[in-house]
Amino acid sequence: MNSRRNFLKQFSSAALAASAVPSLLSWATSDRSAPINVPGEEGLIVRSYRFVDLETPVEYFNTWLTPVPHFFVRNHMHEPSELDADSWRLTVGGEVGKPFTLTLAELSKLETHSVVNTLECAGNGRSLYRPQVPGVQWGKGAVSTARFSGPRLRDILQRAGVRPTGKHVMFRGLDEVPGKVPPFIRSIPVEKALDSDTLVATHMNGEALTKHHGFPARALVPGWIGAASCKWLTEIKILESEFVGNFMSPGYRFPNQPIKPGDAVKPEDTHPVTGLSVKSVISGPLDGASLKSGKVAVHGTAWAGEADIVKVEISTDGGTSWNPARLGHDQAHYAWRLWTYDWKASGGDHTVLSRATDSQGRTQPATPLWNPSGYLYNAPDQVKLHVS
Ligand code: MTE
Repeated sequence: MNSRRNFLKQFSSAALAASAVPSLLSWATSDRSAPINVPGEEGLIVRSYRFVDLETPVEYFNTWLTPVPHFFVRNHMHEPSELDADSWRLTVGGEVGKPFTLTLAELSKLETHSVVNTLECAGNGRSLYRPQVPGVQWGKGAVSTARFSGPRLRDILQRAGVRPTGKHVMFRGLDEVPGKVPPFIRSIPVEKALDSDTLVATHMNGEALTKHHGFPARALVPGWIGAASCKWLTEIKILESEFVGNFMSPGYRFPNQPIKPGDAVKPEDTHPVTGLSVKSVISGPLDGASLKSGKVAVHGTAWAGEADIVKVEISTDGGTSWNPARLGHDQAHYAWRLWTYDWKASGGDHTVLSRATDSQGRTQPATPLWNPSGYLYNAPDQVKLHVS
């Protein structure tokens, strides 16, 4: 891990980089005819200009850790236009014995812990649901993996002394709330907050967080939907009950019972989305590719939130028969597993599918559970290939 001096130096350079970003963002939000490219995030697919939503193309899913410039970005509103490492503060209060405020220098003195985590947006794959549902039309790439580092949230909560009445932990970010949009505030149960892998992360892949990913600090709630991991963290508040607000309800809720595609669901028949589903993606060959017959390495990645991947199977005949893929060596509890399948491809048109199974016994379902917000899409992935 970096020394403290390097850590603060990195923050200063990240602060400088951050201060250069607003003009780019306002460019991105104001000029819709400009070329689709957000500097520093080259090659990502722009899903929304308004608040900068960037998807990782699946062909980038060939490294266990996603380089930060290739890591997807999901913003519900404008990123903070001013982030200054010196004036940033994190307040800790609510149902605690000793509320306090930390500067970045104080936060950096706390013991650091690292967690390799696959972060996936709950809406990843939304565009694949039928009937279609409104919302950002993510394809397959609102997911990426990084080594997140920073103090454990548990250490901060223990210092504050959570009262027995404290049941939920609320995070507030420094987003700039446009017009009537409600602020991005969410909460997680205190048990998950006290987990030794839940962090106040300041670093990603060994570097200070970039502005897009929450500089100078974000919550990192491993194995849970990305929305739990609040960026630009500025307040932690312990509550007696779950936070009530737009991003807890109606946002990020899932029907308690399977519903017919297209049906509505009453709010009281839903629960908050927490852990991720079991899922796999084929990162090569790409959909629509034309190949020569012979040996073809079909490859991709698979993840399962709080569970571990135990098996990935590949079908090269449209789902009739399945064969095991080889799992990659790199692994960590909350991280995806790369996989490869050596296929002897014969001439013709083929539909190739991938299907993962996890340590909780969950397997990707042939038909994902349709829901009105299009969350947690996890049907087996498929690509159509022509072999000559
Ligand atoms: N935190 C704040 N403050 N504001 C946001 O809009 N988006 C959330 C989460 N944290 C968000 C946020 C969502 S929906 C996701 S999927 C992740 O951030 C994405 O993190 P990333 O942009 O670093 O990939």
